[in-house]
Amino acid sequence: QRICNDPAVYQPLAYLRLRRAIRNIVERRGIEPGQTLPSERDLAQTLKLSRVTVRKAIAGLVEDGLLHQRHGAGTFVAERIVKPMSRLTSFTEDLRERGLSPRSEFFERSLGEVTPEESMALNLSPGSIVARLHRVRYGQDEPLAIERSAVPASLLPDPMLVSDSLYEALERFNARPRRALQRLRAVSLNAHQARLLHVSAGSAGLNIERRSFLDDGRVVEFTCSWYRGDIYDFVAELQTD
Ligand code: GLP
Repeated sequence: QRICNDPAVYQPLAYLRLRRAIRNIVERRGIEPGQTLPSERDLAQTLKLSRVTVRKAIAGLVEDGLLHQRHGAGTFVAERIVKPMSRLTSFTEDLRERGLSPRSEFFERSLGEVTPEESMALNLSPGSIVARLHRVRYGQDEPLAIERSAVPASLLPDPMLVSDSLYEALERFNARPRRALQRLRAVSLNAHQARLLHVSAGSAGLNIERRSFLDDGRVVEFTCSWYRGDIYDFVAELQTD
């Protein structure tokens, strides 16, 4: 109804107009995250536009991450996960706070000698042993991120002790991180990452590197993550000096 009442959608270059109109409505919360859009056919009929035009407008918004499509269930306004950057929280805590259930699918949980990159990031001497985790992180059965973590074995003696949450396991060894440095970079997800995250190859992703520390300065983890750009917003509060 709101889309059909918007005069902008009846003007030339209809698919771009329709795309802009839907974006405006969603951004003004005229349709809430998680709610469905009218079907392609209904929109085309009511707006007297061709289905190709409607499909093109919607496809553009799906690509932008504003809408999601599920086979057989229709088109939804995407629910984004907004993550404050200033709080040192775990993936598990972030999801639980939003009422979502987190889950990990592990590809690797092993002990091994540090690589040169890990030894620099973790301040460990060559030959030291680290516990490694490589996993896909899910929320409500939807893949959200891929993570590779390395933790000194002196702090986490056995990676199999991480049943799902790394920070919960570290807590049991009194090694829960207290401070972290994090770097965020925009990336396009390669074919392998995209397949694991159920998005198309080349989609936008966020590469996050986190080094976290104990109070005494020891580095607890070096984690490299790839988050889905179509779902995550990282926000930071800024203050003047
Ligand atoms: C986030 C961080 C990772 C950290 C992880 C711990 O995803 N980017 O650096 O290792 O949280 O989460 P969990 O305790 O759920 O394994």
